[in-house]
Amino acid sequence: MTKKSELYKCNICGNLVEVIKSGEGELVCCGEAMELIKPQIHEDEKYEHHIPVIIEHEDCNEIQVGKKPHPMENEHYIEFVEVYTKDNKKILRHYFNPKEEPSIKIPKCFDIGKAIAMCNIHGLWEKP
Ligand SMILES: [Fe+2]
Repeated sequence: MTKKSELYKCNICGNLVEVIKSGEGELVCCGEAMELIKPQIHEDEKYEHHIPVIIEHEDCNEIQVGKKPHPMENEHYIEFVEVYTKDNKKILRHYFNPKEEPSIKIPKCFDIGKAIAMCNIHGLWEKP
């Protein structure tokens, strides 16, 4: 049984899929069950560079991955961030390329509740 918005990864080929509508079946890729990916939530400072932070500006809010931004090298970078409202509705998923800054500006009209970041090596992260 899957739930809407869950992310599943194939540990063989690396496919990553999102559930748009939940169903009874098991997701399978390369002949094996896909793994449910859940965000890691840590208070520890050593994980700080994976945790999205919200920076308030006069005209917008900015979501940046890490107080000190996460590395954005070809081999190790933030693949995307997802931003949710306070009532847990996904506003957007923004994809990054290596060498880009891991941040995005959001209009003030969105009532931002949480953000989740995906590192290509260290997985999914959420602010506690
Ligand atoms: Fe990382």
